[in-house]
Amino acid sequence: MSTPINIKSVAASTSPVTSSIHDHFRNRGRDSSIDIRQPKVLHPLENEGLRLLILENISQDAVATFRGQGYHVDHYSKAMSEDELVEKIGSYHGIGIRSKTKITQRVLKAASKLLVIGCFCIGTNQVDLSAAARAGIPVFNSPFSNSRSVAELVMSELVALSRQLFERAYELRTGVWNKQSKGCWEIRGKTLGIVGYGHIGSQLSVLAEAFGLRVLFYDVVNIMPLGSARQVDSLSTLLSESDFVTLHVPELPETIKMISEQQLAQMKKGSYLINNARGKVVDIPALVQSLQSGHLAGAAIDVFPAEPGANGAPFDDQLNSWASTLRALHNVILTPHIGGSTEEAQKMIGEEVSQALSRYLGYGSTVGAVNFPEVDLRAITTDHLTQIRVCHVHKNQPGVLKQVNDALSPYNVEKQYSDSKGEVAYLMADIADVSPADMLRLKERISGTNANIITRFLT
Ligand SMILES: NC(=O)c1ccc[n+]([C@@H]2O[C@H](COP(=O)([O-])OP(=O)(O)OC[C@H]3O[C@@H](n4cnc5c(N)ncnc54)[C@H](O)[C@@H]3O)[C@@H](O)[C@H]2O)c1
Repeated sequence: MSTPINIKSVAASTSPVTSSIHDHFRNRGRDSSIDIRQPKVLHPLENEGLRLLILENISQDAVATFRGQGYHVDHYSKAMSEDELVEKIGSYHGIGIRSKTKITQRVLKAASKLLVIGCFCIGTNQVDLSAAARAGIPVFNSPFSNSRSVAELVMSELVALSRQLFERAYELRTGVWNKQSKGCWEIRGKTLGIVGYGHIGSQLSVLAEAFGLRVLFYDVVNIMPLGSARQVDSLSTLLSESDFVTLHVPELPETIKMISEQQLAQMKKGSYLINNARGKVVDIPALVQSLQSGHLAGAAIDVFPAEPGANGAPFDDQLNSWASTLRALHNVILTPHIGGSTEEAQKMIGEEVSQALSRYLGYGSTVGAVNFPEVDLRAITTDHLTQIRVCHVHKNQPGVLKQVNDALSPYNVEKQYSDSKGEVAYLMADIADVSPADMLRLKERISGTNANIITRFLT
């Protein structure tokens, strides 16, 4: 018999119980344990203890949270090889990894009980996403937990570039005292041009205005500016008006080399370029030329077309043919893709991904999954104790809803939602007043339909 899973707080945060101000005052002063409209904590029908395999030293907080919710957790500091995973994964319902563990088709084939994969990082390339979806396994990650960290790094780079901070600090480390103010500027009153006004660009906009910068941004989407920022209608307008240009776009076919010779020529003489987005967005040989000619006064680059695979590996001309030339330029700050690397971002990743796993295992919600239709339902509340939740992952083919709804038709369907993505579809339904004997029969009937991938009942 497993320990009951307690994920009340997660449910409350994602599927809040609708309550009015009148409910609030009506319930004031009463014992909160008799508030009948709390989210009901759900358990798998079989009540089998859920086991999680957590690898790559994922935050202890996440592990503690899982254990607190009643999951059995096996926690390892290292990644596992494909062979090790194939041997071990068969007994786990969930796995948490970072970027070093590869979840291949072979691993997924051995994962007979696996329900969910959590990537405690930004990228998900290490998982065969379509094979996971076909096996009915949603994959969650945490793409935006480090936005603030990147925005703060950019703020520091604005000041460091305009004060030639790295030059002066380097000179003094080599024993040279070189106090000067020529070519050194305050950033107050200057214009910052942000390319890509998403999670990072918009955070940065707020911080930059607090520093007294005028903010312009260019984005392919029309976005409500924050503060006094102003959206411009073309990249060339932004480039020609900005003292600093900072890039915050994703890597897409249309953003590869979006800053090349022509765009650098459109930038003001004496301006600066910052790239903390993706390495291929800037044509680096063109940037090198612009810096060597003195057209640009400096640059900060955190991301590169090719990056070393591990700490200590060389950043040289074998990796990128221009590396040594770039390294020798004045007033160029080069950092090893650390834009999002902070303790806060790691903590946030741990919280976000562990909540997503708990929400899926306990409540069936796939909101935020990268390879799966995103489906969620309002929480079942404790005044509806007889309701059960059907979570049916199935092949995206005609006729499935008819079959499932035929099976559900003797009962009252309180709420239902279904969506599809590629070859996979997912239906969630809350149904009322199903007897324990009927529950097993109903589950067997839905699991037996020809498009079934995974069917879970949560009660
Ligand atoms: N250096 C690091 O460590 C680090 C950390 C986190 C994110 N990043 C990178 O930063 C970039 C931005 O991340 P985000 O979280 O703000 O992304 P986001 O998706 O929230 O925002 C991207 C914005 O770019 C806009 N955009 C897309 N194509 C465009 C184009 N052709 N021209 C202008 N705007 C365009 C989008 O409309 C969107 O508003 C991504 O490339 C991400 O990989 C780097």
